[in-house]
Amino acid sequence: MNVKSTHITTVEHAVPVEERWRKNGHRGGVLWFTGLSGAGKTTLAFGLERRLFGKSYQVYVLDGDNVRHGLSSDLGFAPEDRAENIRRIGEVAALFADAGFIVLTAFISPYRQDRAVARRAGRGRFHEVFLRADLETCERRDPKGLYKKARAGLIPDFTGVSAPYEPPEDPELVVDTVALTVRESLDVLEEYVERVFTL
Ligand SMILES: Nc1ncnc2c1ncn2[C@@H]1O[C@H](COP(=O)(O)OP(=O)(O)OP(=O)(O)O)[C@@H](O)[C@H]1O
Ligand SMILES: [Mg+2]
Repeated sequence: MNVKSTHITTVEHAVPVEERWRKNGHRGGVLWFTGLSGAGKTTLAFGLERRLFGKSYQVYVLDGDNVRHGLSSDLGFAPEDRAENIRRIGEVAALFADAGFIVLTAFISPYRQDRAVARRAGRGRFHEVFLRADLETCERRDPKGLYKKARAGLIPDFTGVSAPYEPPEDPELVVDTVALTVRESLDVLEEYVERVFTL
């Protein structure tokens, strides 16, 4: 990355993160969902947010579509734009985690290198969650009609069709969204959160 910020110092927060955790009753961190379009990132991120919120967790979803309306509205889908998009989200997610939140991110994030950048930003509080679903299943689901458009040549650089997806090599958690129902997938995720973010 081309770093242009110079003469920058770091200031300490008056409230240490551990104090925030104690107040919340749980640790903060990033659950980084990755998978093809239609793998279930949005469904499971918002479903998990609902469940965790109901159990008084501090939890917030960053979703691909919403972020591209604002934070990354100047970026497209070429590899360098995707890299910058994921870099920004990785930094924002890390800020939320520093603020004590459990952040659920729902981005295809197809490139290993880009996810590695987000992982570094998360400084030990980054959990890569691979939502495993094969292309055929995702294309059959096609919840937003995007595969149909991509096959018709209307969407360039569409992951799985005209752009690559690099599956994680060593994710913290794999959820097979073909074999499992939405509810079963949420059970797996909730159990993981309870195991990992409990103080
Ligand atoms: N186990 C499961 N987990 C999640 N979604 C599932 C599961 N089984 C079936 N589905 C269905 O798959 C679809 C997943 O769509 P969703 O919008 O969540 O995908 P996405 O990964 O966010 O895609 P995009 O990258 O395009 O935003 C939904 O229609 C959902 O009901
Ligand atoms: Mg989505």
